Amino acid sequence: MAQVLLAHLYEQASPQSLALILLLFLIAVHLAMPRSRAEKLLSKLPSPPFKLPIMGHLHLIGSLPHRSLCDLARNHGPDVMLLRLGTVPTLVVSSPRAAKAVLRTHDHHFASRPHSAVANILFNGSTDVAFAPYGDYWRQTRKVVTTHLLTSRKVRSNRAAREQEVRLVLARVRAAAAARMAVDLSEVFSFFANDIVCQAVVGRFPREEGRNKLFREMLETNAKLLGGFNLDDYFPSLARLNLVSAKAVKHKKRWDDLLDDLIDKHASKTANDEEEEDFIDVLLSVQQEYNLTRENIKAILMDMFEAGTDTTYIALDYAMAELMRKPQAMTKLQAEVRRCAAKGKEMVTEEDLSSMSYLKAVMKESMRLHAPGPLLIPHFSTADCDVEGYTIPSGTRVVLNVWAMGRDPTCWENAEDFMPERFLEEGMDAASDFQGNDFRFLPFGSGRRICPAINFTTATFEIILANLIYHFNWELPPGSTGINMTESFGMDVHRKENLLLMPCLAQDV
Ligand code: HEM
Repeated sequence: MAQVLLAHLYEQASPQSLALILLLFLIAVHLAMPRSRAEKLLSKLPSPPFKLPIMGHLHLIGSLPHRSLCDLARNHGPDVMLLRLGTVPTLVVSSPRAAKAVLRTHDHHFASRPHSAVANILFNGSTDVAFAPYGDYWRQTRKVVTTHLLTSRKVRSNRAAREQEVRLVLARVRAAAAARMAVDLSEVFSFFANDIVCQAVVGRFPREEGRNKLFREMLETNAKLLGGFNLDDYFPSLARLNLVSAKAVKHKKRWDDLLDDLIDKHASKTANDEEEEDFIDVLLSVQQEYNLTRENIKAILMDMFEAGTDTTYIALDYAMAELMRKPQAMTKLQAEVRRCAAKGKEMVTEEDLSSMSYLKAVMKESMRLHAPGPLLIPHFSTADCDVEGYTIPSGTRVVLNVWAMGRDPTCWENAEDFMPERFLEEGMDAASDFQGNDFRFLPFGSGRRICPAINFTTATFEIILANLIYHFNWELPPGSTGINMTESFGMDVHRKENLLLMPCLAQDV
């Protein structure tokens, strides 16, 4: 009947009226379609009203999504709100209370990851740790990295390599100080973080044939492909058009060449080789036990570079930038570092660090204001759960805005100010840490998916910052008017401008 009616209209109507009729017809069909149970539950959640066809709320997300989401949450859902990002409903969690419900009370139901077309290509079907869906495979791979790379014992055993990397940085900065030249600290931190991960993962190979530089370049492309608000993720049907995927496939081929070569070199090491065991050796030795294919090993290796490099450099860059903006904090840190490490040392060592409470407070405060991953990695629900009085259906994508929580003025005194003192013994947040127990402060996440590398990161962060502060006094380059804190959002959030500072060799240490 409908077909006959449409055929009749087609013969009689003008193209404009035909288009209008078709549109009305589609709207009527849409309204008449029974809504799924999940849709009904989601529609009860608070949500901004300005939704466009097809785009949903995507047009409300600016170039700095953590800030847009924070503003939207303040007006439309301070605890939880629902955004329609393209065709994908996304739950945005912005308060510590709601974060606790997601990451503690219902952690096991929110511990999966949504499908990502690009991650699927780069990480061989998401068989890494960070993008793997929750389940036995993820449990096994996470166990491999936590027990064989990131335990406190392993981190301690990498100490000599870390100190060696610090020496290289100090030599470079000393040379700049002697020549009265500015140092690009963003670049220094970026190479340092990359080299530390390379040392732990691929051992003596990183600097061979400039591989460390190649890794950096490869990671930059990864960040471009995975970063930001990826259209493929919000219009999954677009993934079939292979717009982004084609680039990812090409890039993945380069990773394969690089990693296959490294794995082959490790596999052909003889028992007489005297080099220290690195993470690739370990992965090869436990390959059978954990039932890992070569493709799985490559995905895990890429994950370590991806997760471990930029995050650490960003944390260091922000800490130094904040210290430069707050000279009292810099003076306090200098005094502590130079008091705790004996005079005339070639370098501050890890023993010296344990008594540096202000240094630890600086790290916390900097991460509170500038979590390198302000929205964590998206989570995905695998069962219906109640959060803040709403039932969140299974299959919902969840974004946690830890940036907003770290700056929430109802949770933190002088929330926007850089005040490391708040974390000291006598400070108001002395008991707070970033181990996932204080839901106002989650730069590493919390629960099952918490970053497994907090020890590794802390060791890397403290040793380099303490040494740069011990040996040098820092100034802005001549003509500089201050430090530009403008942000740029990609895989992570970092300062847009590189941090150029003048080092002067400290005379009194
Ligand atoms: C300042 C440094 C770092 C920060 C701020 C950071 C932060 C994070 C965050 C926010 C997550 C996601 C948590 C979630 O989704 O709930 C994460 C996951 C992860 N991070 Fe880190 N991270 C850092 C350094 C590292 C390093 C150095 C490594 C390894 C060498 C690493 C390895 C991982 C892995 C494997 C995951 C995935 C965990 C999972 O999904 O089970 N991270 N990290």
